[in-house]
Amino acid sequence: MFDNHNLIPVNVNPIDLFKKWFVASSKSEVNDPNAMTLSTVSKNNKPSSRIVLLKSYDEKGFVFYTNSNSRKGKSISSNSFVSLNFHWKSKKRQIRIEGVVRIINSNVADKYFNSRPRESKIGAWASKQSSKLLDRSELNKRFVEVKKKYNNLSIPRPPYWNGYSVKPNLIEFWQEMQYRLHDRVVFKKIKNEWKSTRLFP
Ligand SMILES: Cc1cc2nc3c(=O)[nH]c(=O)nc-3n(C[C@H](O)[C@H](O)[C@H](O)COP(=O)(O)O)c2cc1C
Repeated sequence: MFDNHNLIPVNVNPIDLFKKWFVASSKSEVNDPNAMTLSTVSKNNKPSSRIVLLKSYDEKGFVFYTNSNSRKGKSISSNSFVSLNFHWKSKKRQIRIEGVVRIINSNVADKYFNSRPRESKIGAWASKQSSKLLDRSELNKRFVEVKKKYNNLSIPRPPYWNGYSVKPNLIEFWQEMQYRLHDRVVFKKIKNEWKSTRLFP
């Protein structure tokens, strides 16, 4: 009656399991398998969520890039507790991650910024992310100005454009199962070691 095959393993390293699921989803998702919801809490205790792209990950952290002057950047500067959420519809799976976020080493951010298309680099200078834009033409004008400024020159990373790494202390795996008896396993980091527990759905 019950399908007890393919349950989420408990005696594994959650980063390895994340990798397995991420690689599998990368083959089946229509687009952006690395899109994740990032939730932050403002200094007034107001939560807010948006999608960012995961650019690298390992035991030390899950890395995304953004503008530190943005709404999320400001929230993070006053409260470094954040959560991430992946939902891979094609696999009927979810991963939740909670942890503490910090700005990564500027050399690593430079390297990633330099690998981006020239237009994206110009865009990073042109966009005052999350600030009021009265007219779309203002953004276009800024783009053209930056393009002109750096004509034939290499474009440096804006000082406010940073990489952020979320160091996980909780990772929960969820997958759809029959009769809505979904499978959940949560891994918590306790004294530098991952401990896992299966949860009721
Ligand atoms: C698929 C997708 C990928 C995105 N990737 C990023 C990203 O990597 N970095 C980023 O700053 N914003 C990204 N955004 C835009 C954010 O969701 C958000 O609109 C923006 O960062 C401003 O958020 P804030 O005002 O809360 O700071 C992405 C949006 C989508 C839909």
